Amino acid sequence: MNRFSVARGAFSLAMSGFVGCTLSPMLVFAQDSAKPASPKKEIPIAVASFGTIKVDGEIDEAWNNLSAVEVKKIVKSESTLSESEAAKGTVKLLWDKENLYALWQVKDSKLSATSFDPWGQDSVELFIDELNEKAGAYQKDDAQYRVSYEGKISGDGMGYSPDNIKAAAKKVEGGYVVEMAIKLSFAKREAGAKLGLELQINDDPKTGNRGAITKWNHPENDSYMSTTDFGDLVLEMKEKAPEKAPEKK
Ligand code: BGC
Ligand code: CA
Repeated sequence: MNRFSVARGAFSLAMSGFVGCTLSPMLVFAQDSAKPASPKKEIPIAVASFGTIKVDGEIDEAWNNLSAVEVKKIVKSESTLSESEAAKGTVKLLWDKENLYALWQVKDSKLSATSFDPWGQDSVELFIDELNEKAGAYQKDDAQYRVSYEGKISGDGMGYSPDNIKAAAKKVEGGYVVEMAIKLSFAKREAGAKLGLELQINDDPKTGNRGAITKWNHPENDSYMSTTDFGDLVLEMKEKAPEKAPEKK
């Protein structure tokens, strides 16, 4: 018997004890009553179509005719503004073999970047879990990318590097536009791939402090710490335009 098989023997002995114990009806009963089955949470789905853009704050043609997701759920615990007062926006997504692209169109009537904290400035945040493990604390494939309405880039998380993002912002009537390109390193860049995603808008109503957060999915200020409640992002090939039927003669 070598050292390895001794260890294995000890392990299976421990396991049999463990299994025997969890199978005891008393214990199963106790566990059931202590932990009521929680309702299955719905995971929203965003879709990114295949395509490439120039990151310059000008809205490329490739963005036309794509569906957008809305970033409008208020995070009550962090907001003094009401949901109707808070900055809100829409996000369209594209991908290619290198990057994930996002176009943000934000409605925010009072633009400000005077807060010391980058998240206190009018800004947008994209959170990504490339392997979609929704594992909680950030791992190497998880990152938080932030871009202010002035185009300043910041971020955090194990997977964050300023080298992985290019962005441009532009003020428009009633708000601002942000284009982002985020380099993908872990996710499969192929149709059908599923990544974890959350989207956030920070709003300073010209007080020098954040007055509201709005989100795409989970209305808590937790996405910078945990990937658990991210939504799903599915990479798709853009649908081909239906072929024109041959004219009858
Ligand atoms: C949060 C802030 C947090 C920051 C850290 C933001 O997404 O809203 O509360 O301090 O991330 O980077
Ligand atoms: Ca604002």
